[in-house]
Amino acid sequence: MFYKGAMFPQWNGSAFASGLAAKALIRITFDGKGGAQAVERWDMGRRVRDVEVAPDGALWMIEDAKPGGLFRLTPLGMAVSVPAAQSATPVPAPSRSATPNDSSIEHVKSVIADNNCLVCHRIGREGGDIGPSLNGVGTRRTADQIRAAIVSPPAKTSAGTPNPMPSYDKKFTEEDLKNLIHYLSTRPLLP
Ligand code: HEC
Repeated sequence: MFYKGAMFPQWNGSAFASGLAAKALIRITFDGKGGAQAVERWDMGRRVRDVEVAPDGALWMIEDAKPGGLFRLTPLGMAVSVPAAQSATPVPAPSRSATPNDSSIEHVKSVIADNNCLVCHRIGREGGDIGPSLNGVGTRRTADQIRAAIVSPPAKTSAGTPNPMPSYDKKFTEEDLKNLIHYLSTRPLLP
């Protein structure tokens, strides 16, 4: 099974293999030249019959036993969190004074969409609740802190659990990153 999904963006393109006798789940990466390598292995303590990707990017794992089990695997700290249903309320138009121009805002929005930020964060009325809402983030964080949160997220969240946020270091051009930070800094705090 090849992984493609929003919950484990760092695994996109990896394949997963399950082991009955090995009782393990194995992640395999490819070098694009025909080479494959098992890069991670999780001991499940169960005979794993199959593993599949759920529509929301979680992994479904089937246990071969009597009774067996069906398991939903999600990043630590988000077990109960499924991205919030997209609300029908339009996102409030960004204030003109605080924003460079419409085309760069559209571009920032596509950067946010392409990088699954909304799976975990709320921006405007959209998004999930795995991470903190980014509405009003500029009122509690400086631009440098926002940059650090994106390029070098802490290993643990403030709650002490492993941080599910992947590092976006080198994922964006410097200009995209600046525009993204500016956009986030100017998101109003919503009631
Ligand atoms: C898989 C979930 C996930 C994804 C995807 C994700 N984040 Fe996060 N993010 C988190 C979590 C959880 C935290 C809180 C970490 C902590 O407690 O320190 C966080 C923290 C942040 C913070 C700091 C907020 C604050 O109040 O301190 C910013 C800014 C941020 N993320 C921006 C982004 C952006 C921009 C993207 C997309 C490019 C993104 N995140 C993608 C989970 C995610």
